[in-house]
Amino acid sequence: MAEQEKKTVLSGIQPSGSPTLGNYVGALKNWKLLQTDDRLCYYCVANLHALTVRQDPADLRRRAGETVALLLACGIDPEKSVLFVQSHVHEHAELNWVLCCNTYMGELSRMTQFKDKSAKHADNINAGLFTYPVLMAGDILLYQSDLVPVGADQKQHIEIARDIAIRFNNAYGETFKIPEGFIPQFGARVMSLQDPSMKMSKSDPNPNGFVAIMDDPSVIMKKFKRAVTDSDTFIAFDPENKPGVSNLLSIYTSFTGLTMDEAVKHFDGLGYGSLKAEVAEAVIAGLEPVQNEYKKILSDKAYLEKIMSDGAEKASAQARKTLRKVYRKVGLA
Ligand code: TRP
Repeated sequence: MAEQEKKTVLSGIQPSGSPTLGNYVGALKNWKLLQTDDRLCYYCVANLHALTVRQDPADLRRRAGETVALLLACGIDPEKSVLFVQSHVHEHAELNWVLCCNTYMGELSRMTQFKDKSAKHADNINAGLFTYPVLMAGDILLYQSDLVPVGADQKQHIEIARDIAIRFNNAYGETFKIPEGFIPQFGARVMSLQDPSMKMSKSDPNPNGFVAIMDDPSVIMKKFKRAVTDSDTFIAFDPENKPGVSNLLSIYTSFTGLTMDEAVKHFDGLGYGSLKAEVAEAVIAGLEPVQNEYKKILSDKAYLEKIMSDGAEKASAQARKTLRKVYRKVGLA
């Protein structure tokens, strides 16, 4: 297919020590599936975004590479997709400034993630945390993206990216493609195994609340066995009244490929013990190849470096074009 006819997909993941099942089901698994012949996918390790909370420099540096290794292990194919580290492509920081000057304080202060994060990091409410969505809009708009696969928690950020793009186009003439979000129907929000009213998060103080992609099989089994369900005895998908059981069921569908109806039928007449064990087994089997591949890739530093520099080069080629256009439109070039 001709390059220009392909749809452009872009997404990003922050480099973090232990990405969870939530990252896998809500994002990474779908990223792999989006790599079809009629699409060009850009996948970005968002280390500039990570600076909005305090980081140990050595850890941050190491994690960029580890996250690239994780994406490769999850099936991102560097022959098909552009896999790169955000800070390696300086256009992200440059476009961010221009977009900041076209974004209102009012719209940024309505972002729920800013409110949540500033409550959580009350000692470090920095300006970057506030303009975080603008940097993300820049990631998306630099590549003229059509489709942005994200978890449900990023929906508001996609909307503001669209608003910024539309506003910019209206002010300066056609510059950016208007992106669409793509949020999976089930699994977009994997909930904590200990408190199914909360999103699964690696920063959960209770380690039984989340499963890390790199957790050992025995740990995964143990965490699922401890998962909170409810005091009923039947298995049904009803997120409102049975959030714990429904969370387990949606994880199950995501790993088995079954529809929700098929999954519910499968567990008909079985108890919560079987549900937890079977979900754990499906997760363990699904993560095993990812874990093995990750270890293999991380042991080959030269390969990883090459992937990162090739990715940055390919990403820059497109980013440069868009930034040049933007600079011309606003009068900077
Ligand atoms: N903010 C996203 C998250 O925390 C990560 C991200 C950064 C992203 N840039 C992006 C996602 C661009 C989609 C598109 O999950």
